[in-house]
Amino acid sequence: MKTLSMAIIFLWCLWVGIGAAEEVKWEKGGPSFLYVKPTKKPPHHGVYDESMKCLDCHSYDGVDAYTSATMAMKKSVKGRMPQQEIAQAIAEALKGRGDYREIYVLSTSFNNKPLATVVELVLDPKTFTFYAMSERQTEKLFHIASNPQVSAAYVKQRENYDYFTGALGVQIVGKATLLHDDDPEFVAAARIYLPTLPQPVPTGIQPPPIDDMIAMIKHTKIITKITPERIVILNRAFKAKGYHAVQVWEAGAQQ
Ligand code: HEC
Repeated sequence: MKTLSMAIIFLWCLWVGIGAAEEVKWEKGGPSFLYVKPTKKPPHHGVYDESMKCLDCHSYDGVDAYTSATMAMKKSVKGRMPQQEIAQAIAEALKGRGDYREIYVLSTSFNNKPLATVVELVLDPKTFTFYAMSERQTEKLFHIASNPQVSAAYVKQRENYDYFTGALGVQIVGKATLLHDDDPEFVAAARIYLPTLPQPVPTGIQPPPIDDMIAMIKHTKIITKITPERIVILNRAFKAKGYHAVQVWEAGAQQ
């Protein structure tokens, strides 16, 4: 009797298991439930070129990243901001108190396991390179050493506005390099990073000259340099100008 009930439970589990597996239809780019079924266009839908069909964006087109909402909007000329204007909007969003220093979440991974760390990054608006300074032996540094692919996000915190109307966020994808000791790039990066540090309360004692400061930190700190490949900015204010709320800046893009 016991064996029979065990067998029934086993078969039931097998049946439920198979049933659950059948429910998820997998298409080339991902599970089918992730795709929009383009039946009726909602009024808040972004603008796009007249020549385009719904399925130009709402279907898998061979490259996973391009099936995503962000990259689909890039297929339309209408609604896209010129690269130069996107770059300006990004720099404006990340300017901090004029020092281009802001708080981000930096994502790294180690053995395929992600880690999100809150970091302060300084943007060099001339080169669009980001810099962080860390103590040695912190977890994210080991992640970067094993996999230089990183992603960072900045979001303007909700103050007196509703997130969905006043949203402003920036997403960065790029490669990180760890600069240390006598690497000439460490010195160059420290010259950009150090002046943005909050100055000590005035005591009459001047902070040491920057070269002395660099000599003091170069054997103890690591500077992480992040070279972005793609920066996505979401700013609902773009819509008022006839642009999409989401704009994509790409390193080396022509226009
Ligand atoms: C240029 C690319 C593009 C074209 C062409 C396009 N869409 Fe979309 N559509 C998107 C993107 C991107 C989103 C989702 C993200 C967003 O709202 O920005 C979306 C979202 C939607 C949604 C979901 C909206 C929601 O709020 O959940 C529907 C429904 C939709 N589209 C229908 C259509 C229909 C119908 C057509 C053709 C008449 C069409 N789309 C043409 C890119 C496109």
